[in-house]
Amino acid sequence: MTASGIARTRRSASITLALLLATTGAVTMGQPGVAPQTNASMAKARPWMKAKLPADRRVALLLAQMTRAEKRQLVQGFFATDFPPRGFKAPAEARNGSAGYVPGIPRLGIPAQWQADAGIGVASQGGAPRKRERTALPSNLAIAASWDRALAERGGAMIGAEARASGFNVLLAGGVNLAREAGNGRNFEYGGEDPFLAGTMVGAQIAGVQSNHIISTVKHFAVNDQETDRNTGNAVIDPAQARMSDLLAFEFAIERGAPGSVMCAYNRVNGPFSCESPWLLTDVLRRDWRWPGYVMSDWGGTHSTKPAIEAGLDQQSGFPFDKEPYFGANLDAALQSGAVSEAQLDTMAGRILRSMIVHGLFDHPITAAPMDLPDAMLDQHAVVTRQAAEGSMVLLRNEGALLPLSAQTRSIVVIGGHADKGVLAGGGSSLVYPKGGNAVPGLKPTFWPGPIMYYPSSPLEAIRRQAPGATVTFVDGSDPAVAAAAARAADVAIVFATQWTGEAFDVPLALPDNQDALIDAVAGANRRTVVVLETGGAVLTPWRDKVAGVLAAWYPGTAGGEAIGNVLFGRVNPSAHLPISFPDSAAQLPRPGMPAKDTFTYTEGAAVGYKWLDKQQQRPAFAFGHGLSYTRFDYGGLRAAAQDQTIRATFTVRNTGKVTGTAVAQVYVAGSGWEAPKRLGNFATLRLAPGEARSATVTIDPRLLATFDESARQWRIAAGPYRVMLGGASDAIAQEVTVALAQRTLPATWRH
Ligand code: BGC
Repeated sequence: MTASGIARTRRSASITLALLLATTGAVTMGQPGVAPQTNASMAKARPWMKAKLPADRRVALLLAQMTRAEKRQLVQGFFATDFPPRGFKAPAEARNGSAGYVPGIPRLGIPAQWQADAGIGVASQGGAPRKRERTALPSNLAIAASWDRALAERGGAMIGAEARASGFNVLLAGGVNLAREAGNGRNFEYGGEDPFLAGTMVGAQIAGVQSNHIISTVKHFAVNDQETDRNTGNAVIDPAQARMSDLLAFEFAIERGAPGSVMCAYNRVNGPFSCESPWLLTDVLRRDWRWPGYVMSDWGGTHSTKPAIEAGLDQQSGFPFDKEPYFGANLDAALQSGAVSEAQLDTMAGRILRSMIVHGLFDHPITAAPMDLPDAMLDQHAVVTRQAAEGSMVLLRNEGALLPLSAQTRSIVVIGGHADKGVLAGGGSSLVYPKGGNAVPGLKPTFWPGPIMYYPSSPLEAIRRQAPGATVTFVDGSDPAVAAAAARAADVAIVFATQWTGEAFDVPLALPDNQDALIDAVAGANRRTVVVLETGGAVLTPWRDKVAGVLAAWYPGTAGGEAIGNVLFGRVNPSAHLPISFPDSAAQLPRPGMPAKDTFTYTEGAAVGYKWLDKQQQRPAFAFGHGLSYTRFDYGGLRAAAQDQTIRATFTVRNTGKVTGTAVAQVYVAGSGWEAPKRLGNFATLRLAPGEARSATVTIDPRLLATFDESARQWRIAAGPYRVMLGGASDAIAQEVTVALAQRTLPATWRH
């Protein structure tokens, strides 16, 4: 896509600085001349600052003090970085190089909202002259591949700590759109194809972020499952099927993470824009889920004043990316004319204030905004991200147990993927700039949604460190014949295959740049070939039977090279499992080509990913939940029983191999009348020494046993037998039992 095309896609408004200043009006930043107060008199004068009072009481006290202009000020956010194409200069108090800013109201002690993108770390906006250098975790999809709730929460806590230390109190984290389109350029920012896994992992990340007394979003609500035509396209999906898939992922993430804010998406859903959909923002989010936070728009995702407010939007983000200051001067006019009432404004401002209070923005205010973080913090976080990467790499294939490689291997050739320099990152607003800068600068596109970024953590150097006695050489992979010759002369060949994906574009499923031919040539020369994939999501692997090993390293973050070395040489036993299916061919998917334009008709409904493949009786290249280890696990002893409103399953996992490893025991369920033969019901992650056996008990959320009835607003569990299956992958079921359930319904308001 051309740069101007991309700019058009992301930013839709055309506005001059003069217009901007005329329409936004001046912001009053405090009250010069007010005499200083003592703490006691301050507490008396500002009772809403008392941490002990209930949040709703504090909100009511505050609203009673606020002028209409002050309330209105809270509902309009600005882009926080200069944006010359729109003639926009960011407010002076904004954190330069970040995504958003909402001025505070010092007169009342209301802090500013400093917003940063934070999917994998504290991001910098491309336009900023000086970038924040921060720690990047592996991609969100990689974190989901760990199936490890604690790992996801630790990662979120790390992002939140760096954000706080960088002066941010609202993080645009929590991406949980389903991987419905395998080619979605943003799949790397999300939690995969299963609503339970995605919601569980992203919810844990959100909880980690918010443990720093800051707000996280969950985004992009909803059905923002492709980037093609994202700003105007209409996602058409049966509402009940959406409740059982995309919306269920949000529902789980919200229950587990309690985010202070929901970011509504760019696209339309069944007609209206997400950010003015009464069904999404009021019926689902507020009425059925009883969620008390505030909805902010995506940047450029607001399209009106009154309809958006009536639908349930509380805050317009990132002005000037919308065509008009809908929640700025336009809202002033609507309040003046009575088209929007002050009571409506109170609701909007009140929801924002409530989340700010509940999540600690008043009681634990941000005090500084340093550009550089202390080395001690960055060093500590380098360990967090390395461990996250090690826990999220999926060993897809290991023929003849070539892996782990022996430190005594005599010669290794490392091929392609800029593996001599670093590891790939995904593009767009989530991009984190690393300490040390881009390891491979200058690759196109060099700006939005680029730059194409390689984090300076070289797999080649890590491999050399692991095998100090070996001859380890590097060839860049541009010439398959040269690579094949080098592979023929080496004991082991390791090919690094990359696929850059990012925001604002979708990608074909095949690896780009002739890399399939490169792998074929290398594997033809040496069967002891290992392929390390650095991709945003699933790719085609037509060469897989010809190579000995395949490791999905995703975008592994700022310590990714070191983590790859540790996994390849067995310092770390891989334990991750696929959060998305790797199809055998694009023809297996509901839509074999690139995502549709304009109208996206999702006839597969809730049958996303493995559910679709199971239903079509298609065997993927690598199935959802698949992931090998350097040890073996035995899954057995499954017992399941109906309990309360659901099923409780107990089982035992034994490590039957020779090294310690972590098993991910997966429980699937099958009922009748569902969108697909089976659904993931729950899972347990168990670390086991050789010979060790442990039991675990999981319960299955009743919504995963039900179908949704949109007109009755009910989850319906049919009476009958349910199969409960235990295994190490969706295509590796070791045992199954049957449980009979009585018919029952649960209201749409039922929560975990
Ligand atoms: C993205 C959001 C992001 C926002 C602010 C938008 O283009 O879709 O995910 O949070 O920009 O940078």
